Amino acid sequence: MNAPTLETRRLSKSYSGVPALRDGSITVARGEVHALMGENGAGKSTLIRILAGATTPDSGTILIDGQPVSIEHPSQSRRLGLRFIHQELAVIPELSVAENLFLGRPYPRRLGFLADWRELNRRASRALEALDIGHIDPSRKMARLSLGDQMLVKIAAAFLDDDGEAARLYVMDEPTAALTSEESERLFKVIAGLTERGRSVIYVSHRMDEVMRIADRVSVLRDGETVATRAISEISKAEMIELMTGRQIADAYPQRQATTTSASVLRLDEARSPDVHAISFDLRAGEILGVTGLSGAGQSEVLRLLAGADKWTGGTIELDGKALAAGTPAARWAAGIAYVPRERRLEGLLPRASVADNTVLAHLESLSRAGILRNRRAELQRSADIASRVKLKSTGGKQPVFQLSGGNQQKVVLARAILGGPRVLLLDEPTRGVDVAAKFDIHTLIRELAASGVAVLLASSDLSELTGMADRILVMREGRQSDIVAADGLTQARLLALSFGEPA
Ligand SMILES: Nc1ncnc2c1ncn2[C@@H]1O[C@H](COP(=O)(O)OP(=O)(O)OP(=O)(O)O)[C@@H](O)[C@H]1O
Ligand SMILES: [Mg+2]
Repeated sequence: MNAPTLETRRLSKSYSGVPALRDGSITVARGEVHALMGENGAGKSTLIRILAGATTPDSGTILIDGQPVSIEHPSQSRRLGLRFIHQELAVIPELSVAENLFLGRPYPRRLGFLADWRELNRRASRALEALDIGHIDPSRKMARLSLGDQMLVKIAAAFLDDDGEAARLYVMDEPTAALTSEESERLFKVIAGLTERGRSVIYVSHRMDEVMRIADRVSVLRDGETVATRAISEISKAEMIELMTGRQIADAYPQRQATTTSASVLRLDEARSPDVHAISFDLRAGEILGVTGLSGAGQSEVLRLLAGADKWTGGTIELDGKALAAGTPAARWAAGIAYVPRERRLEGLLPRASVADNTVLAHLESLSRAGILRNRRAELQRSADIASRVKLKSTGGKQPVFQLSGGNQQKVVLARAILGGPRVLLLDEPTRGVDVAAKFDIHTLIRELAASGVAVLLASSDLSELTGMADRILVMREGRQSDIVAADGLTQARLLALSFGEPA
């Protein structure tokens, strides 16, 4: 092994007496990709926030090139050559791409005080080129980019080479969670280029295949403690899962069941929004329809149209045989169409509100209309039941959502969608950031909901999730419906080929 570029020894951190990290000990060699794995809430992001200077540890030591250092502020972390791609996409949609790249950093100046926009855009372009995403215009408004492109911009921010400070270590907290497989490949190429030049990478992901493919070594955190560090070549997926969970769990999908019935729940005939054209399908009770496509092909937008989040500009949509009226997202919820949006921070959650409030939030309108608001206690009980079904790790219903780990926030969004007993469930990346054990439970839950007659639309960038869960798959291409294929027996390679437009 090359000399360690970074080492952490017994880092710990508690929040109001509850330990988030108890013994975070990792050693990262020069030029390696070091994966950090563990269940939701294991302490991965806490360890990363300590390295970033975003939070201070209660105890423990950090060494760089063998020398103890203290990191009390993000600028110190930066000077030490550490760069971060954090788990949550924090963008300001109203600002340009270049301005977003420079968020929290000093802008280049002219005459000491005027922002030098040309220089700003030039350096932004360079960072975008470094990531092979030169197609993104730095002067464009962030809001106009697809979510995948926004994520790529956030990633590019880690590559801004300001003032010639040398980067030694890139820390990536689930960078591919919101990327399509095509965009992920781009990132993997960049990572390979970084390690060739002697840079190191700490890589957090719940996607086992990805970790097996790009990491050199892996450290596993369990309940805030580093329980093992292994070479990837010497560990199997099953062993990795057992280290993470302490149990043996298959990285698999629940048994396929034929739950599709003949009852049509959702019928679209040439439905359109500003972003998708002529979508026609008939979704039946008990059916799971996957939705896939290359980045920006319109897969999320099909769900947004149905959720009432995007404008419905033409064609017909029928729910249970009745024409659906144009409506707001709230009206759609009330009509029985539940939605798990792709970007939980921007569209999904009120971070300061409690877990319980967030789960009943979307239902308040229908609850009060039905005059059962007094029965809130029963609803809270149901919210707690569902929280346990999705394996939510929290201190209880009163905990504010921002205190939860990323994967647990995702489970809150999902719990909320299920709580109202929907007819149609629109799921956009439902298991994004969710650990393997919880993923299996969530998949089982989705299957059970289908079996009980719910019609499910499942958009996912994880091709194995689509082939493993869906009955049929809708392939989107450039905002149009390109194909609908049966999922049973479909390989991921074939699915990707269809997304690229090869004939079925
Ligand atoms: N500000 C905070 N206040 C209270 N508890 C917190 C706070 N931040 C994190 N925690 C708790 O610390 C624990 C570890 O969280 P962390 O975000 O490090 O998990 P993680 O391993 O990154 O999980 P995930 O895979 O879901 O992202 C969790 O139980 C979380 O609820
Ligand atoms: Mg995390």
